[in-house]
Amino acid sequence: MIAAMDMPISKIRESKLKNLNLENIAFGKFFTDHMLEADYENGEWTNIQIKPYEPLQFAPSLAALHYGQAIFEGIKAYKNKKGEAFIFRPQDNFRRFNISAERMEMPTVPENIFIDGMKKLVALDINWIPEWHDHSLYIRPFMFSSDEMIGVKPSEKYKFLIIMSPTGPYFTKPLKIYVEEQYVRAVPGGTGFAKAAGNYALSMHATALARKKGYDQVLWTDAFEHKYVQEIGTMNVVFIVGNKALTPDLGAGTILAGVTRDSVLTLLKDAGYTIEERPINIEELIAAYKEGTFKEVFGTGTAATITLIKELRYKDFTMTFNTEEWKTAPAIKKQLTDIREGNAPDKFHWMEKVD
Ligand SMILES: Cc1ncc(COP(=O)(O)O)c(C=O)c1O
Repeated sequence: MIAAMDMPISKIRESKLKNLNLENIAFGKFFTDHMLEADYENGEWTNIQIKPYEPLQFAPSLAALHYGQAIFEGIKAYKNKKGEAFIFRPQDNFRRFNISAERMEMPTVPENIFIDGMKKLVALDINWIPEWHDHSLYIRPFMFSSDEMIGVKPSEKYKFLIIMSPTGPYFTKPLKIYVEEQYVRAVPGGTGFAKAAGNYALSMHATALARKKGYDQVLWTDAFEHKYVQEIGTMNVVFIVGNKALTPDLGAGTILAGVTRDSVLTLLKDAGYTIEERPINIEELIAAYKEGTFKEVFGTGTAATITLIKELRYKDFTMTFNTEEWKTAPAIKKQLTDIREGNAPDKFHWMEKVD
């Protein structure tokens, strides 16, 4: 096994950076100069290298294209005022990546490739980390089956890559959300807890229909009664009801264990909120709304950080919120952003330095 320090690095001749303005750059469209690539063959990881970002070449029989053994992660790196680079909680994403790998019958990736390789890559492309407020470098580790043959079985070969994309603010405005009752994202025994590509593929139709009705995203509900809420699009969801923060628990395996979710719950607890992680029935939220105790609802996720929800529509009932009056979500968002951007002490040890 190659240790990260021995990982061969081939550098580009001239950085693409000089032709780009990173301020408010569109999410996910531009990629840094380099990427990490590794192959799984004959039961071990090999060809581990950092090289220029470039197209991959495969036969049309590539297994991942047919049977969808593909997983990914999303992580962010930040620069502080001194120009030092930090990655936000990469160990949590590393653990979750391998949980996804096991669920999809794929090999796990060792820490010296995932974490050490990621740090090397960020260090190499450090100039790509935007320094403006609400900007960061989005890191996308991913793995897919790379056998070039057709047949429904776990692949023998896999490819693991890390690519990186500079990013600015994701959702800038509060969202309108449609509570989904027809389509489902995840069922107990399924893959909801994994960051598997197929979860995103199946979400697109319902989201497209909601968009046609004038909503930004759907709030997924359970597959049996369509009453217990799960997640909003690619975010976990938190409800502030009275002085409690409610969020669906992870017990049924239908929800991705978000790293932002965990960070936000930690900050809320620290701020004195009572946290309840449990099944949450939409009817309970409607009752609280009618009583006037349902104060705030927001999504949490790496790409979006904290996203305020200004409207929740369930059947013919619409709950609207004046997000400008909110206290909790904006305060937690500021705390999290301050920690990430190096403007507040990292008291929970979330920032991992890139040397
Ligand atoms: C389905 C889904 N739920 C929740 C999240 C939030 O997870 P995290 O906070 O780790 O980014 C994501 C990813 O951003 C996601 O894709």
